[in-house]
Amino acid sequence: MRQLCVIGSGYVGLVTGTCFADLGNKVTLVDIDERKIEMLQAGRMPIYEPGLAETVLRNTEAGRMRFTTAYEEGLHEAEFVFICVGTPSGVDGEADLQYVRAAAQTIAKTMRRALIVINKSTVPVGTGDWTTEIISSNQPQPVDFAVVSCPEFLREGSALADFMHPDRTVLGSTNRAAAETVAELYAPLDAPIVITDIRTAEMIKYASNAFLATRISFINEISIICERLGADVTEVARGMGIDKRIGPHFLQAGVGFGGSCFPKDVKALANMAQTHGMHPQLLNAVMEINAFQRRQITLKAREMLGGSVSGKTVAILGLAFKENTDDIRESPALTVARSLLNQGATVKAYDPVAMGNASRDVTGITLCDSPYGAAEASDALLVLTPWNEFKHLDMKRVLKSMRRPILIDGRNMYSPEELRAIGFEYRGVGRGYNGAGASDNGGGDSPAH
Ligand code: UGA
Repeated sequence: MRQLCVIGSGYVGLVTGTCFADLGNKVTLVDIDERKIEMLQAGRMPIYEPGLAETVLRNTEAGRMRFTTAYEEGLHEAEFVFICVGTPSGVDGEADLQYVRAAAQTIAKTMRRALIVINKSTVPVGTGDWTTEIISSNQPQPVDFAVVSCPEFLREGSALADFMHPDRTVLGSTNRAAAETVAELYAPLDAPIVITDIRTAEMIKYASNAFLATRISFINEISIICERLGADVTEVARGMGIDKRIGPHFLQAGVGFGGSCFPKDVKALANMAQTHGMHPQLLNAVMEINAFQRRQITLKAREMLGGSVSGKTVAILGLAFKENTDDIRESPALTVARSLLNQGATVKAYDPVAMGNASRDVTGITLCDSPYGAAEASDALLVLTPWNEFKHLDMKRVLKSMRRPILIDGRNMYSPEELRAIGFEYRGVGRGYNGAGASDNGGGDSPAH
């Protein structure tokens, strides 16, 4: 059992702290947000993440996990401190490091014993060295410490499983012995550990997220071409993905990537490149395609509704940026909702868990208590988050209750053939061929026909 302090109770901090406690360590989670800490002390979660509440409860009851706003409670005894604070986008897309700076300063002033400082926040290359300098220059008297970068690769919605079964753990430090000590903490996870220098570790995180985002923008661009040429992007992705050199993951065309990571990290990496005199052409294209992909949904709705959405009622299923989360940060669904509202549409929506967050972010959406309630009397239905519960809706019931039978499947969840057969005017993303010779854009107007 080791003594850990985790700073920041966002996704990364809460999941890291909880999982390390579950592995038998003693964890104190510190956050300056009193409201969040009070919630956690009362056993309530500030975020929705499957399995999190039960695991937190199990570990608090076992005395392995506690929550506080007092840094000294966490830091005086700790051997390891994890920095898991937010790094939002600054004005030019650069990562805003004010919270990392504040955490490093407080660590310096509060620590009493030798400490390994582990940075899990996604930070620009070079931040590890900068953190070392901040701690050294803020210590009232010198106490031994080392900074290790350990980027996080967990995904929202499957965060606990991702933590417990990672593909790899990356550790970077100028102090190899410190990195190896951190490796011992991760040893029970039985995954490959890459130990490298600190800047390389920081870069691995950005390059990984940027690569996954690139795959998504790639397949989204292919989807546009498929749509025009009469091919089906879901089949194209399947056919590509079987090739071991390509692999099947992150090849689902849709409404574009969202969330708190990909949009921010691609922007930050491009900004780093630009700041150092480079022209990140590919990263810029990835962002451009992503913005275009979101716009496509509104354009399709406009086209199918006869040229304008003004005065029309549009129903949206799914507001979270992806399934199994209540996170609406950079959610493509909200971009679409805002655009429809701006163009004079009435927007109704349903999401299993993200409606509270969405209503704080966008005003004017009528929230409904079921997918059927949202669809009722609407002129078009847009499916924008691939929640499981949308997969087996009673589509005949949905169709019957709508004013017009228009369905835009932003996540390619449904069979175009089946929905067209029951009477929907269906459009997916990049599904130019439905097996019956009709193109996805509703007629035979693609060059392939
Ligand atoms: C992402 C990475 O996958 C994690 O490895 C990383 O730790 C995390 O960012 C982070 O940096 O903290 P996350 O943002 O939770 O995780 O979500 P993803 O599952 O990666 O999805 C990101 C977005 O891409 C979502 O909007 C999703 O709907 C979209 N997506 C994903 C697609 O449009 N197509 C795909 O094939 C896959």
